[in-house]
Amino acid sequence: MTKKLFIKTYGCQMNVYDSARMADVMAPLGYSASESFEDADLVVLNTCHIREKAEEKVYSELGRILKEKKKKADKGERMLIAVGGCVGQAEGEEIFKRAPYVDIVLGPQSYHQLPEMVTKAIRGKGGVVNLEFEAQQKFDALPEAGASQGVSVFLAVQEGCDKFCSFCVVPYTRGAEYSRSPQAILDEAKRMVGQGALEITLLGQNVNAYHGGTWSLADLIVKLAQIDGLARIRYMTSHPRDMSDDLIALHGCEPKLMPFLHLPVQSGSDAILKRMNRKHTAAFYLDIIERLRAARPDIALSSDFIVGFPGESDRDFEDTLALVEKVGFHSAYSFKYSPRPGTPAAVDDRQVPEAAKDERLQRLQALLQKQMLAANRASVGKTMEVLFDRSGKQAGQALGKNPYMQSVHVLGAPHLQGTLAQVRITAAHGNSVAGEAVEPLMQLRKAS
Ligand code: 5AD
Ligand code: SF4
Repeated sequence: MTKKLFIKTYGCQMNVYDSARMADVMAPLGYSASESFEDADLVVLNTCHIREKAEEKVYSELGRILKEKKKKADKGERMLIAVGGCVGQAEGEEIFKRAPYVDIVLGPQSYHQLPEMVTKAIRGKGGVVNLEFEAQQKFDALPEAGASQGVSVFLAVQEGCDKFCSFCVVPYTRGAEYSRSPQAILDEAKRMVGQGALEITLLGQNVNAYHGGTWSLADLIVKLAQIDGLARIRYMTSHPRDMSDDLIALHGCEPKLMPFLHLPVQSGSDAILKRMNRKHTAAFYLDIIERLRAARPDIALSSDFIVGFPGESDRDFEDTLALVEKVGFHSAYSFKYSPRPGTPAAVDDRQVPEAAKDERLQRLQALLQKQMLAANRASVGKTMEVLFDRSGKQAGQALGKNPYMQSVHVLGAPHLQGTLAQVRITAAHGNSVAGEAVEPLMQLRKAS
């Protein structure tokens, strides 16, 4: 008898990958993925703890799910609720206090134990918790990717972080840096390509710190690029300190490696970078950008920024704007600093007032938005390969990404869905560009 499993994913791409693995691990027990939590037998919230709001969203979502759980209980049926991801890891048993109707709490390293926990929860009464911390066990124990995930897929190669930036919970929730073996990754990649993947994005909290035995991330990409049928390789998220020479050089010589890099800098002020424990300066970052552009002049750059970090002065913030001006980003994420319990910066007594954070965020986002629009405009008139991995909101609209990670949409072209096609860019918008297909190149192949 099939049971309904609903997984809601918050936060980073690593969570998207983990959610797919959780669905795989539950499939043998008769659980099949469902699009909504109504009537689900098992609801999993795969949560994010990186900023405050994400956590609050989890609790309000739990409130909504509780109503459904009660409705099912009235019918004499049972709904299990599991909270996974980084909120699960960080909050642990606290979750049962705030939401006593939750049945299971598990951290990101415990997903392979979900079936056992579900069984225990069905049999027993109290909440079931597992906050183990061994990434290796997780990867060894999780099943191989099950159903095809489409033409653009994620593949986790590394997990955890040893950097301990003073604002960040990741080293505490995801544990120490761990790299999977090159062979396991190559096998998984081949399977994914066999199932129709044309693009693989290698994932890790600190992906360019990857070290599989003697293999660097660049070595791994070189090998992956030899897989027939795989057209594109990307990787994220990288740390400036691990941007090694071989990886920079590879951007200049491996055509399957896409000309795009997400390289968070967080701030343009050396004083703030120091207090963030980033262990690099603004000049160090700019030097990487220069070398990347020497290797691959058209590389598109993206970054993460935090404004209002404790002790950030107007002058420090101006340094961030100056760095943005110097680099010219295609896209970027920017956030107001949010004190995370248990991190060193949270107890710093130089917290920046909310109003200053708001004002800085607005100014930074206006500048980043201007740069994004400029990059989008610069692509108008050019013809480039677009991988159409989604359908758009409008009927017949195909949505995809060009090599530079710009979102491209084409109207009246449902046949493009699942293909890699040559597209001429015809118009630029704030967050995307419009185009018309010149010719389809590669189709989503049926799984053999
Ligand atoms: N406050 C605000 N932003 C944060 N990030 C991480 N921790 C915090 C925090 N405490 C941002 C960083 C990181 C991205 C994933 O989230 O910019 O690169
Ligand atoms: Fe967090 Fe810093 Fe590690 Fe990135 S490098 S996950 S920001 S501690």
